[in-house]
Amino acid sequence: MTDTDTMTQEYPVYEHDLFAEDALLNPFPHYAALRELGPVVRLREPDVLALSRFQDVTNALQSPDILISGEGTGFNRFINQKVPEPGVLNSDGERHRRMRLPLMKHLSPVALKPMRERLRTLIDEQIDTLVGAPTFDAITNIAYHLPVEVVSELVGLPAEDRMKMIRWATASFNVLGVIEKDGEMIPELKEDLESAMEVIGYLRDLDPDTLRPGSWSAELFQQVREKGMSLADARVSLRAFVLPSLDTTINAMGNLLDNLARHPDQYELLRNDPSLIPSAVFEGMRHTSILRWFSRFAAADYVSGDVFIPKGERVMILFGAANRDARKYPDPDLFDVTRNPADQLSWSAGPHLCAGKHLARMEMEVMLEALVNKVARIEADEPVRLRNRGVYGIKELPMRLFAA
Ligand code: HEM
Repeated sequence: MTDTDTMTQEYPVYEHDLFAEDALLNPFPHYAALRELGPVVRLREPDVLALSRFQDVTNALQSPDILISGEGTGFNRFINQKVPEPGVLNSDGERHRRMRLPLMKHLSPVALKPMRERLRTLIDEQIDTLVGAPTFDAITNIAYHLPVEVVSELVGLPAEDRMKMIRWATASFNVLGVIEKDGEMIPELKEDLESAMEVIGYLRDLDPDTLRPGSWSAELFQQVREKGMSLADARVSLRAFVLPSLDTTINAMGNLLDNLARHPDQYELLRNDPSLIPSAVFEGMRHTSILRWFSRFAAADYVSGDVFIPKGERVMILFGAANRDARKYPDPDLFDVTRNPADQLSWSAGPHLCAGKHLARMEMEVMLEALVNKVARIEADEPVRLRNRGVYGIKELPMRLFAA
């Protein structure tokens, strides 16, 4: 027996299927159990080593040379190996840097600053139509609003395709998880896998002349013409502007609205002191993390503190579990808008730190600015939760807004 075998056998095992419906609907007791069991826990299905404690997750994300993304970041062979032209998320080293650069040109805080007012106007107008209205769905009426506008106005995709994009984005996150049972594709996921491939085809074949002139994606194709960027790189970058930007921000907004409706004292704090808005956004992300998990592949043995991962293992990075680790955040289940957890991990960390973090923050901040100005009280009925295997979010959130 090798040293590696000995260490492998020492891992505590967690038997519960994290992709089972009950765990998808309420992952938090499972996150707590994993954190309790040990720094590294073996899951049965998928057969991966899970990291759930804040410091261990942070360290792993900062070790991209050993825990790599280039072998895929999902939990099934198909999504890890068969997606054509892997994008920025699934690349390492020099290729990763090359793919990320054209995105950050538009997504840095400085580049985004001039967009803030436009986004604020858009959300102000939308909230005005909802204040005092009978019960409405906050997901389609508030949370969709800015991310969808961003995709057509800033990214520049044809407006008629933007709602299709939401279905495609949801499907793409759903097939990040386990998609097979006993070697067979789970039937209800077939359609989502087709959608995930369809959107890659759509973005690959998109006619650059249909893109809004002056938009981020039109500029990518301009770089192909004028600066020698390869067409393949431009199309992969286009995908990075669109696919990770919708469901993530929509669900982040949905979860934040739900939290504020359920904690009127916290909403009152924001109304009395709007300078707490940036902190409330971080706290929403920490408390109710959107992306459940991504994975890494151990290209060599990895050792950090109490964590040992042998070469060849797939590692599950549990953002939502790390963000509720009491070793890092006292009373972690409490939603507290004064906490300001700027180092929370919902946007990941290290070189793959979400490229759209500043845009998503800005969208959430302007939404809260509009609300605290116009709305005295937010009321919500029970949400219908998504059963998505990649994101933790809300499908429907019946809501009422009372005028300030
Ligand atoms: C609240 C909203 C969002 C959340 C929770 C979120 C979360 C994440 C996470 C966790 C990762 C890192 C995955 C990893 O470490 O493997 C990531 C990467 C990424 N996100 Fe976001 N994201 C959000 C919004 C956006 C937006 C608005 C955009 C684009 C406009 C975007 C574009 C990207 C891209 C391109 C990457 C890959 C970065 C890289 O690999 O270097 N995201 N996101």
